[in-house]
Amino acid sequence: LLSAVEMAPRDPILGLNEQFAADPNPAKVNLGVGVYFDEDGKLPLLKCVQAAQQQLLEAPKPRGYLPIDGMAAYDQAVQALAFGAESEAVKAGRIATVQALGGTGGLKIGADFLKRLNPSATVLISDPSWENHRALFQNAGFAVDTYPYYDAATRGVRFEAMLQALGAAPAGTVVVLHACCHNPTGCDITPAQWAQVVEVVKARGLVAFLDMAYQGFGEGIAEDGAVVQQFLAAGLDFFVSTSFSKSFSLYGERVGALSVVCASKDEAARVLSQLKIVIRTNYSNPPTFGAQVVATVLNTPALRALWEEELAGMRERIKAMRVALVEKLRAAGVTQDLSYITAQKGMFSYSGLSKDQMQRLRSEFGVYGVDSGRICVAAINGRNIDAVVKGIVSVM
Ligand code: LMR
Repeated sequence: LLSAVEMAPRDPILGLNEQFAADPNPAKVNLGVGVYFDEDGKLPLLKCVQAAQQQLLEAPKPRGYLPIDGMAAYDQAVQALAFGAESEAVKAGRIATVQALGGTGGLKIGADFLKRLNPSATVLISDPSWENHRALFQNAGFAVDTYPYYDAATRGVRFEAMLQALGAAPAGTVVVLHACCHNPTGCDITPAQWAQVVEVVKARGLVAFLDMAYQGFGEGIAEDGAVVQQFLAAGLDFFVSTSFSKSFSLYGERVGALSVVCASKDEAARVLSQLKIVIRTNYSNPPTFGAQVVATVLNTPALRALWEEELAGMRERIKAMRVALVEKLRAAGVTQDLSYITAQKGMFSYSGLSKDQMQRLRSEFGVYGVDSGRICVAAINGRNIDAVVKGIVSVM
């Protein structure tokens, strides 16, 4: 049985971590995976997380099973953050929210549920998109296609083409949209453009699935979440996957969620019952610790304020690194327009480097980025930036 099993390729993003760990180069820099490192190159343990952890340690509790859909205080905190505690949809109880294993887990629960509802639907993802979107929806059994997104010539978004593609999609098509900080390009559409997307989603009867993995890393928590308000205002049913991996620096705790906005409380109860079946038959119920930490922070005003401050600190440091990157590339003699680097939002810069150039960066300079040309600016710091710039300039 197993002798015929073929070796699968490494994961295009997480596989780089394996390669990086095995690289003996002492000057190596990991700009592959989307992880924020501080100015000292360390993975931060946020103060708000430490405080919540301390509180939990001081009142230790036994670890029974959580409900299949997760911890109630956590699910409520997710809703309040993603949709606004005062929003009509939250108050009406017409959003089904389940705790998930990270944002990826939220996407997968949603994908499995959608497959049961509408097995012949096509899923559209942006061109390009997060490497795992296509694989995840394909593995859930969907045919996956793309809608135009990035324009290499302008380093912007091919918005008219995107709108046209969505406008031509059959009713029921699932459209995966990056709510903010587009991964991998860092190019977001404007609020006015979002309004047009919402309009076409509504007019065509498409199913919007918002992937919200970087809330707070673009312009701020409210600004980055604003598109959710547009979908709510349009009265649509839609899906939102939430991740706290990056915003709480809790990558290994797998804290995320899936929310499905429904037409009524009764509909939400029925949807929730189906989501629970998906969860129960995959991993039974979610883990406790990460959700306890996030719920404690979000539900304690002083910790919540501290979190917002720390998140702003991460956002500002990334922006400072973008500016420094541009200055150093210029100083190294690069004359082309580099304004795209500071205009891009979130953790990533889509460098425009080819797969060959990215591979040279890795093998000759120990600078690890994704083959697509994506580099994680959130992992650049004052110590490694010169090595990064030297590598980039040499392969350009
Ligand atoms: C990334 O794009 O690097 C992150 O979302 C991490 C991951 O799981 O791929």
